[in-house]
Amino acid sequence: MMTTINWGQVLDSIPENAIEAIVNSQFVSVLIEALGFTKNDQFPQFPTGQGAQKVDFAARKNTESEKFLFSPVAPYLLVEGKGRAIATGAKINLAEGTPKYNESREQIKRYLLSPKCQTAQWGIITNGIHIQLFRRHGNVVIPATPCTLINKGNISAIVQHIKDLIDNPPKALTVCIYNNKGGVGKTTTTLNLAAILRKQQKKVLVVDFDSQRDLTQTLGLDVGAISLYNCLTDSKANIIQTVVPFIHTDKHGKPYTDKQGKPLRFFDVIPSTEEMEQFTDSLQAQSHIQKGQKRLREILKAFIYLYDYILIDCPTQWLFFSQSSVYASDVVLIPTKHNGLASLHNAARVITKFIPEIKQERGDGGPIALPIFFNGEKITDPSLQTANQEIGKIINQAKKDGFDLIPYYWPKSTSGNAEKTIFSIPSYATVANAAFSHIPAVFLNNTAAEHYVGLIKEYFLK
Ligand SMILES: Nc1ncnc2c1ncn2[C@@H]1O[C@H](COP(=O)(O)OP(=O)(O)OP(=O)(O)O)[C@@H](O)[C@H]1O
Ligand SMILES: [Mg+2]
Repeated sequence: MMTTINWGQVLDSIPENAIEAIVNSQFVSVLIEALGFTKNDQFPQFPTGQGAQKVDFAARKNTESEKFLFSPVAPYLLVEGKGRAIATGAKINLAEGTPKYNESREQIKRYLLSPKCQTAQWGIITNGIHIQLFRRHGNVVIPATPCTLINKGNISAIVQHIKDLIDNPPKALTVCIYNNKGGVGKTTTTLNLAAILRKQQKKVLVVDFDSQRDLTQTLGLDVGAISLYNCLTDSKANIIQTVVPFIHTDKHGKPYTDKQGKPLRFFDVIPSTEEMEQFTDSLQAQSHIQKGQKRLREILKAFIYLYDYILIDCPTQWLFFSQSSVYASDVVLIPTKHNGLASLHNAARVITKFIPEIKQERGDGGPIALPIFFNGEKITDPSLQTANQEIGKIINQAKKDGFDLIPYYWPKSTSGNAEKTIFSIPSYATVANAAFSHIPAVFLNNTAAEHYVGLIKEYFLK
C-alpha cells in the first residue's frame, strides 16, 4: 500500500550534518519504501559476496511465499547511502565530478557486479542532498539519471521517475561503435559483435546508420518493408517494418534452417538506403546537436524492450549520422589502431568533447564511453611501447583540462599499479574477407570467434 510521503518533512528531519547512519534511517529507508519496497522487501547491510563488502540496502519485491528480509538472495535494487557530513562535521559533497562522487560511483558499480548481486539491475547513491540511479546490463553499469541536487520542489518527481524506470526495466543495451577516425574497424566490429552475441543466445538488432551502407552491403541485405529514411522523415511510419533478418547461408548461399526447414534467423538489421545521403547533404553544415539528431533515439525506443543489444554502426565525421548514433546510445565502444596515432587522439576527442556534448544535451546521465580497444593489427612489444608512450601524453594533456582518461585507455590501472593492458583484436584474413563472403567472420572461423568472445567478456557479459 502506497502512502503519500511528506517529502518536505522528511528532508527537514535530516540534520545538515547528518552522518551516514542518520541519512540511511531518516531518508534512504523512506526512499526505498516510496519506490514500492516494504520493510519486508529490503535487507540492510547486504553482503555482496565480494570479500566482506556490504551495501547499505538491498531490495526485491516479495513473492507470496518468501520475504526478501528473511531470505535475502537475488536482490533487484541496491542503495548505497552516504552522510551529508562525516563525524567531524566536514561536509560530504556528492556532486558529479567530486572525489566523493567518483568514489561512490565506483563503489555502487562494484556492488552491482558482485557475486551475490548478479540479479541486481539498479543501484542508487544518495546522501539526501544528491541522488543518482545507475542501471546494470551484463557487466556494464551506466547512469540512468543524472546526479541530481535534491530539493523540496523536485524530490517527488525524482522519486517517481526512478520508480517508473525500475518498474519497467529496458531489456536492451544500446551500443554505438564509433571513432572520429575512419577505417578503424567500426563496421567490422559491429558485425562481429552482433554475430558473437547471437552465438551467446542474445537477441541482437543492428542499425546501419551510415549512408555509405557498408554494413548493409557486407551482409548483402535489401531494404525492409519500409526504409529507415522513411521513419526519420515521417513520424507515422512504422519502425518495426524497417527490420530485416540476417539469414546465415552456407558456402552455396543456401540458408541454414531449423528442424522445420525454416531459415535460421541470426540477428536483425535495420539496413541503410541511398536516400539517407540526403541527410549528409542537407545537414552537412550542422555540427551542433539539434532536434534532427534526437530522432534516431526516439524511434529506437520501440526496440529497447525487445532486444538484448542494439548495435549502431555510423560513419566517421562528427555530423548528423554519428551525432544521432551517439545520442541514441547507452555506451560508446571505440575501436582504435595502436599504430594509428590519429585514432588514439581522436578517441580522446570522442571521450572528452563529443560524448560530454551529447550528455549535456540529453540530460539523463548518458551516454558513456567504454574503454578503447586496439583493432586489426599485429602488435609487437616495441610498437606497444610506442603506443603507450603516446597514450601517456594524451592522458597528461587531458589531465591539464581536468579530464581523467586513465579508465578509458588503461582500465586495469589502479592507484597502486600502473597496469597498461589494452584489449585487442588482431588482424585476421577471414575478418577482412567478410565483405566477400557476406558473413561475419565469427560464423566462419573459430579463432576469430574466440577473439570476439574475449571482446564481449571484456566489455559486456559477466
Ligand atoms: N580485425 C581485423 N582483421 C582484419 N581486417 C580488419 C579487421 N578489422 C577491420 N578490418 C578491415 O579494415 C578495413 C576497415 O574496416 P571497417 O570498414 O570495419 O572500418 P570502419 O571504421 O567502419 O571504416 P569507415 O570509416 O569507412 O566506416 C576493412 O577492409 C576491414 O575488412
Ligand atoms: Mg564503417
